[in-house]
Amino acid sequence: MAYRTPRVALIVIMFLIAFSGCALAADEDPLQDFCVADNSSHSIINGFACKDPSSVKSDDFTFTGFRNPANATNATNGFVPTAATVQQLPGLNTLGLSILRSDFAPDGLNGPHVHPRASELFFVVQGKIEVGFVTSNNTLFSKTLEQGDVFIIPRGLVHFQHNIGGTAAVAFAVFNSQNSGVERLQNTLFGSGIPDVVLQKTFQLDMGTVDQLKKTFTP
Ligand SMILES: *[C@@H]1O[C@H](CO)[C@@H](O)[C@H](O)[C@H]1NC(C)=O
Ligand SMILES: *[C@@H]1O[C@H](CO)[C@@H](O)[C@H](O)[C@H]1NC(C)=O
Ligand SMILES: *[C@@H]1O[C@H](CO)[C@@H](O)[C@H](O)[C@H]1NC(C)=O
Ligand SMILES: *[C@@H]1O[C@H](CO)[C@@H](O)[C@H](O)[C@H]1NC(C)=O
Repeated sequence: MAYRTPRVALIVIMFLIAFSGCALAADEDPLQDFCVADNSSHSIINGFACKDPSSVKSDDFTFTGFRNPANATNATNGFVPTAATVQQLPGLNTLGLSILRSDFAPDGLNGPHVHPRASELFFVVQGKIEVGFVTSNNTLFSKTLEQGDVFIIPRGLVHFQHNIGGTAAVAFAVFNSQNSGVERLQNTLFGSGIPDVVLQKTFQLDMGTVDQLKKTFTP
């Protein structure tokens, strides 16, 4: 393609940049009303193959697993996540969306973690939760949220949530991905098989401490 003037070419390039920015903001857009996940299909695509639309039911778009609070009292760090990703809610396939319920015991903590494929909208339904994320220039943005408050965590940044209200707390997180993924830093770093010497040098630890951390955080 040849453009008559550099200005036209510039406008086209700017349009393409703006458009590709939109496409990267979430999972791919669907090409039909819905594509309910057929998780028994062996077709390899980016997501799940679509169920035959004639066998799709209202249940495919329904998740009832948030009705009852989880008891976080004896959970690790007093925190229980209950996820509705495309795995639990097949109607989410290709829609670029998912949701998670978080139950926190008093002092419950969802420690530093990353969602590699989604930004997060975090909405407090009950309690008082301190939330924060760290940017790529190492700046911490944090806030104490009360019931009804919302906080945004940009995609791919390390973040945490800590129940500081002294009572049980409940929050919902909405993600702009059907499968946001989660990497918990303690498991990613100490529970994945990264060589001991790499961990020892990076964190300036003695080998005994590296061993101890590996024992604690290997799932
Ligand atoms: C497939 O989806 C059904 C219903 O959502 C679920 O019960 C089942 O565990 C899923 N199977 C796999 C292999 O993900
Ligand atoms: C939650 O679990 C703890 C200990 O496991 C128990 O003492 C408590 O009664 C439970 N709370 C509710 C609301 O079930
Ligand atoms: C919960 O944890 C407490 C304190 O660690 C323990 O005494 C209790 O037996 C636990 N309850 C259950 C149901 O595991
Ligand atoms: C890092 O980002 C913060 C917040 O946007 C800004 O105030 C600060 O100047 C930045 N620091 C550097 C070294 O770029």
